[in-house]
Amino acid sequence: MNILSIETSCDETAAAVVAGREVLSSIVATQIQEHKIYGGVVPEIASRRHIESISQVTARALSAANLKKEEIDAIAVTFAPGLIGALLVGVNFAKGLAGSLNIPLIPVHHLRSHIAANYIAHKQLQPPFICLLVSGGHTHIVEVLDYTRFNILGRTRDDAAGECFDKSARAMGMSYPGGVELDKIADKTQANKYILPRPTVSGNELDFSFSGLKTAVINLIHNASQKGESIDVPALAGALRSRVCDMLIENTLKACSQTGQKTLVLAGGVSANSELRERMTSECEKRGMDLYFPPLNLCGDNAAMVGAQAFYEYKTGNLAGADLNATATLPIDYR
Ligand code: KG4
Ligand code: ZN
Repeated sequence: MNILSIETSCDETAAAVVAGREVLSSIVATQIQEHKIYGGVVPEIASRRHIESISQVTARALSAANLKKEEIDAIAVTFAPGLIGALLVGVNFAKGLAGSLNIPLIPVHHLRSHIAANYIAHKQLQPPFICLLVSGGHTHIVEVLDYTRFNILGRTRDDAAGECFDKSARAMGMSYPGGVELDKIADKTQANKYILPRPTVSGNELDFSFSGLKTAVINLIHNASQKGESIDVPALAGALRSRVCDMLIENTLKACSQTGQKTLVLAGGVSANSELRERMTSECEKRGMDLYFPPLNLCGDNAAMVGAQAFYEYKTGNLAGADLNATATLPIDYR
């Protein structure tokens, strides 16, 4: 079954052709350079660029897969969550395409597709497993019961881990999206030079809070500048990365032991983080657990992962009609 998938939830216009877990083509047109000058994604600009690129990106995905549109069996599209104006471009384009070709339309939840990036890379992986889902907008510990059934065990109460990285990196003078650069320059050997707080939350012990950590970094930089002192940016980046990883790793391992689950999956943009991958690998080895994470090219937003998840949504009977709408916020366990 050839699925043509479309992703426009944030600042990447992407299209792919996927057959089950096989990726026949995957095209990503990123807008990052354009948003960089504003220090973050400008929603209105994102929507406009999606409109300009979507036809061409889709045509390129078809031609790279060596297929005509008549050889496509279904259209998949990210419909939630994300920037509403950006999502609408993909949803309307996909509806038009599915209608004109008279083939099924499969709505895909963005976070579910991040998890599915792992199905592409690891053909043997199948639910159930625990997933640490860490992106620019979300931080969840999810029990993946089946391909389309999820149980949220923990979530951030405020900022997402990616947001904490990006905003702290920005205060350190790095450009958007700072999480990527912060990971490159962070100096592990100097990470103890700055002691950052470790925010905890009351109630669910698997929940997170990252906003206090971000504020601590901003205050530290502000206080130093008021005293005319300079900041050792690689050391501070190292301290922040290490602290975020402490929190992510501790809660995730706790979730695994509470549920007795021995398979752990990382997903989302922040799963590209080098320290998170390294430390999680050694923790899982120690515990005899299986760990999976996507290759770097599938960690960020792309349409191949949308197509992979769409295959399972289709099998479950989750199809949409011409009345499909985009939704800015929607939990991963929606029904
Ligand atoms: O999943 P994603 O591409 O988009 C959303 O759905 O949000 O995630 C983007 C986030 C950004 O916050 C970016 O800074 C972060 O992923 N990110 C990283 C790394 N690569 C991307 N954060 C830490 N270390 C990285 N290597
Ligand atoms: Zn994403």
